[in-house]
Amino acid sequence: MASRLRRVRTGSGTLWLYRDVMSNDRVARRPLDSDATRRAARRWWDSDAEDYQREHGAFLGDADFVWCPEGLRESDARLLGDVAGRRILEVGCGAASCSRWLARQGARPVAFDLSARMLGQARAGARRSGTDVPLVQADALALPFADGAFELAVTAFGAIPFVADSARLMREVHRVLAPGGRFVFAVTHPMRWIFLDDPGERGLVAVHSYFDRTPYVEYDERGVPSYAEQHRTLGDRIRELVGAGFVLDDLIEPEWPAGHEQLWGSGARCAAGCFPAPPSTSRTAEPVPAAGPA
Ligand SMILES: C[S@@+](CC[C@H](N)C(=O)[O-])C[C@H]1O[C@@H](n2cnc3c(N)ncnc32)[C@H](O)[C@@H]1O
Repeated sequence: MASRLRRVRTGSGTLWLYRDVMSNDRVARRPLDSDATRRAARRWWDSDAEDYQREHGAFLGDADFVWCPEGLRESDARLLGDVAGRRILEVGCGAASCSRWLARQGARPVAFDLSARMLGQARAGARRSGTDVPLVQADALALPFADGAFELAVTAFGAIPFVADSARLMREVHRVLAPGGRFVFAVTHPMRWIFLDDPGERGLVAVHSYFDRTPYVEYDERGVPSYAEQHRTLGDRIRELVGAGFVLDDLIEPEWPAGHEQLWGSGARCAAGCFPAPPSTSRTAEPVPAAGPA
C-alpha cells in the first residue's frame, strides 16, 4: 500500500490517505494513549521496514545525511557544525544512513530505533557500505542512556511524529545531552495538516483545523490501532522544547528546489511553490547549560 509510505515522510500524504480511506471506517482522528501509540508504531515500522527502504533507500543513500524530502544534505547545510570526535545520538534512525555518514566524518554516533526490522535495515546498510555504527533498540520516550552522554542529538523524521508525548521525548533528549549540547531535527511542517496532498488547486484549500491535535489513527480489521501520527502546532513545539530546557536557535523551512523531481508525497510538490511542501522543517535548539563543566 504505497500511499502509507508517502504519508509518513511528508505528512501531506497523511491527509490524502485520510480522505481516501475514511470510507472503510479504518481511519480516524481519535485520542490514543501512549502505550497503544508505541505498539502501533512498532508494529507499523516493523511491517513497513522493507518497503520503506525499497521506496526511499536510494534517495537516502547508505551513508548520507539527507534532512528532508527537499533533498537538503548535511554536507551542504552544515547545521551540525564540525562533528569530528563528537558523541552523537540519532533518534529514530531507521536504516541509520545519517549515522554512517556521521561516522565517516569522524563522529562517534549511536543510532537507536523502536523497530527491530528497521534496525535490520540498518545492519544491511552497514554490510553494503562497509561502515558500522552502534545500534540500539529503544523507545524515544525512555532512553537507555546516561545523563549527558552525548554532545549532539539528531533526527530526520524519526520518532517525534510517532509518539503520543513529544514533550517527554524532548525532555529525554535534553537529559542525555551534555551541557552546551544541541538537538537538531527535521519534522513535517505543521501547516501540512491543514491541506490535502493534492498537486492541484484542491491542495490549496484548508480542509482540517490547524488547531486539531487529535492524532491520526489507522485501525486493523480487528479494530486495533496499527498506525498513529501526531500533529503539533509551531507554538506547541517551541513550548515543548523550552519546557525541556532547550533554547531555540533556528527554524529552517527549506524551499522545494527548482528541478528537484523526486517526490515523497502523492505529487504535491508544494502546490506551485506557495508553501513549504512536501513539507519539512528543521529546527535547532541548544540546552541551557546546566551547572558544572561545559
Ligand atoms: C519516517 S522513519 C525515519 C527514519 C530515518 N530517520 C530516515 O531518515 O529515514 C521514522 C522512524 O521512527 C521510528 N520510531 C517511531 N516511533 C519511535 C519511538 N517511539 N522510539 C524510537 N523510534 C521510533 C520508526 O521505527 C522509524 O524508523
